Amino acid sequence: MNFELKTLDLAGAASARCDVLLVPVAQPQVQALQADTGALSALLNSAIQHEDFSAEAGKQLHLYQVANVAARRVLLLGVGQGSARELRNALLGTAPYLKGEGVRHAVLCLSALGEQADVAGAVQSLDEACYQYQLTKSKAKPIALQKITVGVPDKRKASAAFAQGQAIALGQQLAREWGNRPANHATPTALAKAAQELAKAPQMNCRIHGPKEVAKLGMHAFMAVAQGSKEPLQFIELHYQGAGKEQAPVVLVGKGITFDTGGISLKPAAAMDEMKFDMCGAASVLGVFRALAELQPRINVVGLIPACENMPDGGAVKPGDVVTSMDGQTIEILNTDAEGRLVLCDALTYAQRFEPSALIDIATLTGACVIALGGVRSGMYASCDELAQQLQQAGESAQDLCWRMPLDEEYGEGLKSNFADMGNVAGRAAGSITAAKFLQRFVGKSRWAHLDIAGTAWKEGNAKGATGRPVGLLVHYLLGQTTSAPAKAAAAKPTTTKKASGKDGRKSSTAKKK
Ligand code: BES
Ligand code: MN
Ligand code: ZN
Repeated sequence: MNFELKTLDLAGAASARCDVLLVPVAQPQVQALQADTGALSALLNSAIQHEDFSAEAGKQLHLYQVANVAARRVLLLGVGQGSARELRNALLGTAPYLKGEGVRHAVLCLSALGEQADVAGAVQSLDEACYQYQLTKSKAKPIALQKITVGVPDKRKASAAFAQGQAIALGQQLAREWGNRPANHATPTALAKAAQELAKAPQMNCRIHGPKEVAKLGMHAFMAVAQGSKEPLQFIELHYQGAGKEQAPVVLVGKGITFDTGGISLKPAAAMDEMKFDMCGAASVLGVFRALAELQPRINVVGLIPACENMPDGGAVKPGDVVTSMDGQTIEILNTDAEGRLVLCDALTYAQRFEPSALIDIATLTGACVIALGGVRSGMYASCDELAQQLQQAGESAQDLCWRMPLDEEYGEGLKSNFADMGNVAGRAAGSITAAKFLQRFVGKSRWAHLDIAGTAWKEGNAKGATGRPVGLLVHYLLGQTTSAPAKAAAAKPTTTKKASGKDGRKSSTAKKK
């Protein structure tokens, strides 16, 4: 979506020509509005007086051709206390109006909420509300909406948040799009092409390791998962270099199972189509890189995506087969449906070569996590309290929530095997945790975190579709790790220091070499 940021008070909003004007109202502001004499305040006061509307979270009042208001439609939105979460929910609820045929230009007036309104979150939520999947629909019609103007008390003060919201929106949109694409349109090879496309942005590059290279690296756990499929596996390596070479990168590892049948441990037929979403971890890594391309922050990030299908076949890996992972540990594959940890363990081993400042994997890893946390919060595991806190905090500020889960040693006991260093599954109990314990055996001394997004990466039922989570959480986390202002903004200032002008030097030094 096209967004525009404008300084706009309530009076300005009343005279803004548009097809729909969105006005979120919070309870603490209602009193102040009573003193105001503008057309919108009068409208609000009257609606509240007649009990047709209140600022309670979730309330909506839709009006048409209101006197002294230039917008054709006005939508009043109650946002309770005006928190980021309440604003987000209210804006997501405007989707049916934004998608109306006659709506080309929408204006969101945040001024009634004051300066603390979550501008980044508002942009992201509106963009989310406007997304429509089209690729494989022959009669898809794009929505009429062309532009959303976001009105704030002071444009200057809100511009950084506005840019951040737009970048996250683009990243989230990309993650949703790849998540939603059917497995015959989102093959490992297609994901690799998408990564190469992204890497055309400044400070980025991409390297694709095909089956031969992956064999040479000794990633036999990853290869075992892919061996039942006709689609060649791809190991995608993305680099974003926004800071000096000496700075350790954050490494993101995304599970990229483009379809998970379960393999020989075949899944039941019901809802198996949803296993096209089993690459949503990978899609979130692509989404993060899309946002990085926009924001150009001062940080180094590596993205790793082991991508393949998990299929049953005459050549497929069998329950009981033992493979040697890249780091030399042997694994008895007791259940071929526990494939995510097998592709991830080799990618985590590979990640060690970057000596990451933090190593974070993102995976639709276990059905057990869906049972534990549902679709509200992602499961978060961390070997380091500080990293756990940072991720928790990033989730709160992005309204992309997670919840820390335990990693006690005892949870790993069920992974022992009589025929290998470990099995790839433990018992039925605590399935999300035992999966995390498996991964932990491959992260060495890294500051490591694991996000199990099995419950949050997509929605089922009528709203079936990818959510683009946890792009918001990850981007907020990464922006919190930058050393100073975004490289782009710093470079644009005439007073740039030597260090900042070294950006170009860094660019040439990172160009296409490994
Ligand atoms: N991709 C699935 C996890 C999953 C299942 C996510 C359902 C969302 C909804 C993963 O590869 C898997 O099959 N995990 C197994 C592990 C089990 C065999 C230990 C599971 O959760 O059932
Ligand atoms: Mn599986
Ligand atoms: Zn899977």
